[in-house]
Amino acid sequence: MTLDITPSGEACGAAVRGVDLASPLTPDLVAQIRAAWLDHQVLAFPDQSLTDDDLERFTLAFGPFGEDPFIAPIPGRRHIIAVKRAADETSPIFAESWHSDWSFQRTPPAGTCLYGITIPPTGGDTLFASQYKALDEMPDALRKRIEGKNAIHSAKNAYSPQGMYGAGDKGRSMDIRPSAEAEATWTHPFIRKHPETGRESLFGCAGYIIGVEDMDPAEGWDLVTEIYRWQTRPEFQYRHRWQKDMLVMWDNRCTLHMATGGYAGHDRLLHRTTIGAA
Ligand code: SIN
Repeated sequence: MTLDITPSGEACGAAVRGVDLASPLTPDLVAQIRAAWLDHQVLAFPDQSLTDDDLERFTLAFGPFGEDPFIAPIPGRRHIIAVKRAADETSPIFAESWHSDWSFQRTPPAGTCLYGITIPPTGGDTLFASQYKALDEMPDALRKRIEGKNAIHSAKNAYSPQGMYGAGDKGRSMDIRPSAEAEATWTHPFIRKHPETGRESLFGCAGYIIGVEDMDPAEGWDLVTEIYRWQTRPEFQYRHRWQKDMLVMWDNRCTLHMATGGYAGHDRLLHRTTIGAA
């Protein structure tokens, strides 16, 4: 079987057809999908009728499950979370800021799979930003300021009791569990070599990045926000438009992503799994 791959024409992303992901995933098929994933960073598989078992089987073909902190899994599953929003919900949109999933972990995940179950008729796109391209095109003077430096990552702004999804976050349909554990920090280099492609990429961004190791906090934060403005520029982006029964997998090691709104009055539900680092 040969995959039918259509690049988005934007900074990253491709649609993949000619495959039924509910059928057995042969080693050859998995190798082809992995190669396309590494190449395009974000793959969208439209028209896939998948059960939660199929979603888990697909995820495990690409690595172990990652650890999903601060969000309870759906009933009966340990590794699937529901990204959902009710039509009448008024709390801020979940994940509507640039990030690489769980970049604050000691070993952040390789990728994420997200499967569209209830998709609003308008809005709810997911934006991606290629961090290979952002680094490739970064001015030398800016690059020199982060070369050899480590960013401090933490979940505290989002998931601590005082964070965005903390005690003050009422009326949300997602089962988010804020915790003081979100205060923990880990450092990762701003510039990392992708473990599978060997290409250099920027990793993570302001939000989960809260400072720079061995730098004065105010100066460090200025640098983090300057990098953020560069790495999220429109020319590095791909806008993903969802359909029901579409599976998307993205590579957290070389992309950022963010949710968008624009679907007030409509439900939205997707099931999400995390591909851990191998
Ligand atoms: C996420 O960051 O997992 C959510 C993306 C989305 O809801 O579009």
